[in-house]
Amino acid sequence: MPLWHGDFTMRWSEPSHFELLRDKDSSLPEAHLQAKVTQPFEGTQVLEAYVTNLTTVVDGEDVKPVYDITLGYSQGDTGYRHFPGDTIGILCYNTEEDVEFILERLNLLSKGDLACSVGIVTHTTKKSAKVPLFVPALVSCRRLFKECLDLRVVPKKLLIRALVPCASEERDRRFLEILCSKEGNAAYERTVFQKGKGLISLLKLVPSCRPTVGLLIEHLPRLMPRPYSLANVYREASGPSVRFLFSHCVENPGITTNYLRGLEKGAKVYFYFRQSSAFVYKDTDLKHNIIMIGTGTGVSPYLSFLAQRADALARGETIGHGELIAGFRYRERSYFCKDEIKEYLQTGALDACHEAFSRDADARHKYVQSQIREKKDLIIENLKNDQGLLYVCGDSKVLLPQIMDTVIDILATEPEANDREEISAFIGRLKKDGKYREDVWL
Ligand SMILES: Cc1cc2nc3c(=O)[nH]c(=O)nc-3n(C[C@H](O)[C@H](O)[C@H](O)COP(=O)(O)OP(=O)(O)OC[C@H]3O[C@@H](n4cnc5c(N)ncnc54)[C@H](O)[C@@H]3O)c2cc1C
Ligand SMILES: NC(=O)c1ccc[n+]([C@@H]2O[C@H](COP(=O)([O-])OP(=O)(O)OC[C@H]3O[C@@H](n4cnc5c(N)ncnc54)[C@H](OP(=O)(O)O)[C@@H]3O)[C@@H](O)[C@H]2O)c1
Repeated sequence: MPLWHGDFTMRWSEPSHFELLRDKDSSLPEAHLQAKVTQPFEGTQVLEAYVTNLTTVVDGEDVKPVYDITLGYSQGDTGYRHFPGDTIGILCYNTEEDVEFILERLNLLSKGDLACSVGIVTHTTKKSAKVPLFVPALVSCRRLFKECLDLRVVPKKLLIRALVPCASEERDRRFLEILCSKEGNAAYERTVFQKGKGLISLLKLVPSCRPTVGLLIEHLPRLMPRPYSLANVYREASGPSVRFLFSHCVENPGITTNYLRGLEKGAKVYFYFRQSSAFVYKDTDLKHNIIMIGTGTGVSPYLSFLAQRADALARGETIGHGELIAGFRYRERSYFCKDEIKEYLQTGALDACHEAFSRDADARHKYVQSQIREKKDLIIENLKNDQGLLYVCGDSKVLLPQIMDTVIDILATEPEANDREEISAFIGRLKKDGKYREDVWL
């Protein structure tokens, strides 16, 4: 017999296609509920890891806190060798606060931990109704909301429309109707779409709205794993581990960064290796001259490049010339990898490091773009030389396009330069040929 589906759907006559049935005989797996699901860009299965180190490396006034985390995992789990430039996907969890809020709103606090199977309502009107692949057959409501559904998503108008009959108060129904109407576009933008809002904030505005679990399964997207760039190299001799650095936005904390920063040593984490992208730095690239450009935590993948170069030097191999262009807010307070970089400069794994400090009053270079302009001969030589590789790491909306524009600018200053469109096409070809390699952070 359906457990809670009927409670709400009958009352508010908004049938959803899914129902939860109590499953007394089964118990839930301990692993993250999405551990067996196909992951985006997966290179391996999901692995169980333990936090072996979590250090705050940047903190204080006017800086984004940055954390340096290492996860150990069992050698038996995989024979996978990761390369510098590779990324992992972290399976994340919604906050306790959000999950408790949803359970309370759905009147499920006392039933939240019962094992249930998710199924299709027998007489559903939807012909092709299917339980989403990211919702396992056996769940508890608490873990469904914690591990599978994105509770922070900006609710689409379709979801808001579906919420209307779930509100018992006329006032709340009217409010939801306005939000999902054409005329309510401005109210929708203001109330729902703005940063920091989301389903939870919306439900707080309509206290009588109690959707069913089935309706939320139907309308909420998957809680996606988040990618992180590896800062360490694979070394057979040491136990297998992955290290990455992440920044935390205090004003608007993200789901995964909030989860990760709260972990203690020994805590279990579920992750998988993502397939290598064009940004990879393989052994065959060691002989090439490289320029690496990044800002903030976007410098962290280069720590693995430099470790790889240091290992090659230690083996007596010859490596190409390597220079780093790195941007941070403050030299003293947010340059988290200063000591590592210094060591690599001393050992010869790195030939030069050019810095920019956006908030130091006396900095000669505010942004990496300024350094790129100053080092234009080096960069042009690198781009035109068969042996050169240019790496850029950062967010796809602002940083990567701006760096590309700056590179176009400097190429345009060349005598007999082509026009910007042709230079842009030239860079497009460099990207296609794997000479201009971007780590695209979304
Ligand atoms: C290929 C790839 C590699 C990546 N590698 C790294 C990495 O090595 N280190 C790293 O820190 N991130 C990296 N990212 C970004 C990372 O995947 C997450 O997007 C980021 O950590 C925020 O995730 P979240 O779940 O905490 O935030 P979400 O819950 O997804 O919320 C995102 C929103 O929160 C805000 N937010 C959260 N954190 C920040 C922040 N630090 N700065 C600004 N706004 C923020 C923003 O407003 C953003 O719109 C990478 C992304 C990609 C695509
Ligand atoms: N969307 C997300 O959830 C998310 C999460 C993590 C990281 N990221 C992206 O990953 C990168 C590193 O993140 P972070 O948090 O470690 O960095 P950060 O602290 O935000 O910034 C590092 C440095 O980059 C500078 N910077 C900002 N915008 C720039 C631009 N357009 N061109 C050149 N420099 C710029 C900053 O200057 P200011 O003094 O001007 O700030 C600062 O000096 C950034 O590109 C960031 O947007 C995105």
